[in-house]
Amino acid sequence: MKILVTGGIGYIGSHTVCELLDNDYEVVIVDNLCNSKKDVVNKIEEITKKQVKFYEGDVCDKKILEKIFKENKIEAVIHFASLKAVGESVEKPLLYYRNNLDATMSLLEVMNKYNCKKIVFSSSATVYGKPKTLPIKEDFVLMTTNPYGTTKLVIENILKDLYISDNEWSIAVLRYFNPIGAHKSGLIGENPNGIPNNLMPYIIKVATKELPYLNIFGDDYDTKDGTGVRDYIHVVDLAKGHLCAIKKILEEKGIDYYNLGTGHGYSVLELVKTFEKVNNVKINYKIVNRRPGDIDACYADCTYAFLKLGFKASKGIEDMCIDSYNFIKKQNNLK
Ligand code: NAD
Ligand code: UD1
Repeated sequence: MKILVTGGIGYIGSHTVCELLDNDYEVVIVDNLCNSKKDVVNKIEEITKKQVKFYEGDVCDKKILEKIFKENKIEAVIHFASLKAVGESVEKPLLYYRNNLDATMSLLEVMNKYNCKKIVFSSSATVYGKPKTLPIKEDFVLMTTNPYGTTKLVIENILKDLYISDNEWSIAVLRYFNPIGAHKSGLIGENPNGIPNNLMPYIIKVATKELPYLNIFGDDYDTKDGTGVRDYIHVVDLAKGHLCAIKKILEEKGIDYYNLGTGHGYSVLELVKTFEKVNNVKINYKIVNRRPGDIDACYADCTYAFLKLGFKASKGIEDMCIDSYNFIKKQNNLK
């Protein structure tokens, strides 16, 4: 069974490819390396002791997609390829709309042409905007607050319209909460260039002394300790969620939406304290103003994903902190 994974050497994609290979799927990856490095292909092969077919190319480009579908019998697609930085999307909306929408349109058109009508799509909890109540259920009202989020919502709508027009499609829309952590091997993980926007990559740069302290964006939220609360999910658990979704779309036609989180909310301070404890390292921090656009708390109701996909995250916040740091130590040859 051959699965095409777009963006398959990125952070979530690479972990998902490992899970697919470990479960005897054959994998074809297409990635244009705009936010990843080619040697991740070797790392994936080292971890799994299996081979993966890699095409370097842009998913917006139908020619490369045609080539892939001609050369491989693709049964289903997992579509990760996307730009994902919220702040950058506000500054460069056209880049985000062009890349994320074009890539999806080209992919869906070529899939349609080759009669491959099974897709798992990477959406995000960002489509819930500022939820009125918690935990967040899949049927909550959707709204977005930035161009990145809007690309996800528009693609969700495109997929819905596609299914309405042709009931042969099987579509799983996965709304991820906050993935952190890394593969146990320490060979793959997340290591953004420059100053990170997201919490865990920032904590790590403080731990490795590349940055002097963490800015905690506000301690006056209506939460347990005043700092923002999020549903952090280990990236390996998240990757396993894609296997559940692939099984589902291979079995049943239709379109459905699933929250992939743990259902537990942790505050910024709780994450910092846990990171310090399990890794025996000091994380200096300063409380600064709230980041515009942030919400106080966000965590998933995971009941539906469990009922329909049999998905339940198993790794806790301590594993997430240990594995995130282990990856960076290994990358930087630190003890
Ligand atoms: P990532 O940037 O690490 O991976 C995305 C990969 O897609 C990269 O390797 C990049 O080079 C590639 N890519 C981007 N545009 C492409 C194009 N046009 N053609 C070919 N390749 C292209 O990101 P990630 O964290 O692994 O996220 C994967 C998916 O999950 C994305 O769709 C993202 O929006 C979504 N998501 C991520 C998070 C998160 O916090 N990481 C949360 C919710 C949703
Ligand atoms: C981010 C994305 C969102 C995406 C989600 C899931 C942004 C603005 N939003 O949201 O679109 O759906 O990930 O992956 O990037 N924090 C600090 N200091 C920092 C960084 C973050 O205090 O240096 C706080 C934030 O205020 C927040 C929490 O840490 O309370 C988590 O922030 P972050 O990792 O950026 O994720 P989200 O804001 O949840």
